[in-house]
Amino acid sequence: MEKNENQQDNAIKEEPLNVEDFLEPQPQPKKDEGFALITGATGGLGKAFVYALARRGYKLLLTGRSAEKLHGLQDELANVFPQVETRTYAADLSNGQSRAQLMEQILKDGATLSFLANVAGADIQKGLTEYTDEKIAFQCRVNFEAAVALCRFAIENKAERLKIVNVSSVSGIYPMPYFAIYSATKGALTSFSVALREEMRKKGVSVTAVLPGAMPTRDDVKEQIKGQGLWGKLAAKSPEAVAEISIKAVEKNKRKIIVGFWNKMMRVFTAWLPASWRLRFIAKRWSKISKDAF
Ligand SMILES: NC(=O)c1ccc[n+]([C@@H]2O[C@H](COP(=O)([O-])OP(=O)(O)OC[C@H]3O[C@@H](n4cnc5c(N)ncnc54)[C@H](OP(=O)(O)O)[C@@H]3O)[C@@H](O)[C@H]2O)c1
Repeated sequence: MEKNENQQDNAIKEEPLNVEDFLEPQPQPKKDEGFALITGATGGLGKAFVYALARRGYKLLLTGRSAEKLHGLQDELANVFPQVETRTYAADLSNGQSRAQLMEQILKDGATLSFLANVAGADIQKGLTEYTDEKIAFQCRVNFEAAVALCRFAIENKAERLKIVNVSSVSGIYPMPYFAIYSATKGALTSFSVALREEMRKKGVSVTAVLPGAMPTRDDVKEQIKGQGLWGKLAAKSPEAVAEISIKAVEKNKRKIIVGFWNKMMRVFTAWLPASWRLRFIAKRWSKISKDAF
C-alpha cells in the first residue's frame, strides 16, 4: 500500500542524525603509497603545496634550510591534520654534502616517495657583473642542480607510482637580461623536466614542469607585483591556486603548464615579436631592479 504525504514526512524526520555528516571531512592517509617530499616547504608556494598534499592524505617529508621554520610548520600541521605523518629535514640544497645527508636520512628513516615537489628556488636579480662566483654557483645549484639530483633520488626510491612537479617559471621561456641566471636555470629546468617525462614513460613516473607568473609570497615579491600595476595584477596568481593547478596537472601527467590565462596569452603574443624588441623591452624593465637571494 502507498504511504500518504504525512507518513512520508514522518519517515524522513525519524531518520537518526549522523554527527559525522556535519564534520569537515578529514583526509584519509594514503596506504603504502610512499611520502611526498616538498623542497622549499616553508616558503610561500612550498607551504601551499604542503597543505594541498596533506588534504589529499599524503604523508609528508618537509625540507628547507631553517630547522626552526620547519618545526613551526610541523606543529601547525599537527593541529590542522592530526592524522597526517610529517617528518622534517633541514638541508641546504646548494651544498652537495648537505643534500647527500638529506637523502641518506630519508632512506634511513625508511621512506619511499610517491610525490616530489621541487619548489625551492633563489630569485637573485641583477646584471652578471654584480655577481660573485659563489652567488652564481648558489643560484644554479638551488634552481637546477638540486632539482635534478632530487628527481634521480626520487625515481631510484619511488613507491609504486611517483609524481614529480618541478617548479620553473615563465621567466624561463625567454632569455631575460638582468635576470639572466634565474631565467637560464628555469629554462633549463623546464627543458630537463620535459625530456625526463619522456624517459619515464611507462615507468610509473609522471613529470610536470610548472611555469607560474608572479605569486604574492614574500613581502618583496608582493611589492614588486604592486609596482607593476595592472600588468602585475593580471599576471599574478595566489600560491594556493598555483599548488592546486600543479597537482591536478601532474595527476593528468601534463608535460608543462603555464599558470594563468594572462600568462598564456602573453606567451602567444610575445612569440610574434622580433627577439631584439623583446630583449630590449625586458632589459629596460629589469635593469631597474636589483635584489639578492633570501
Ligand atoms: N614568487 C614568485 O613570484 C615566483 C614566480 C615564478 C616562479 N617562482 C618559483 O616558485 C618557487 C617558490 O617561490 P616562493 O616565492 O614561494 O619562494 P620563497 O617564499 O622565497 O621560499 C623559498 C623556499 O626555498 C627554500 N630555500 C631557499 N634556498 C634554499 C637552499 N639553498 N636550500 C634549501 N632550501 C632553500 C626556503 O627555505 P628557508 O627559508 O628555510 O631557507 C623557502 O622554503 C621558486 O622556485 C621560485 O623560483 C616564484
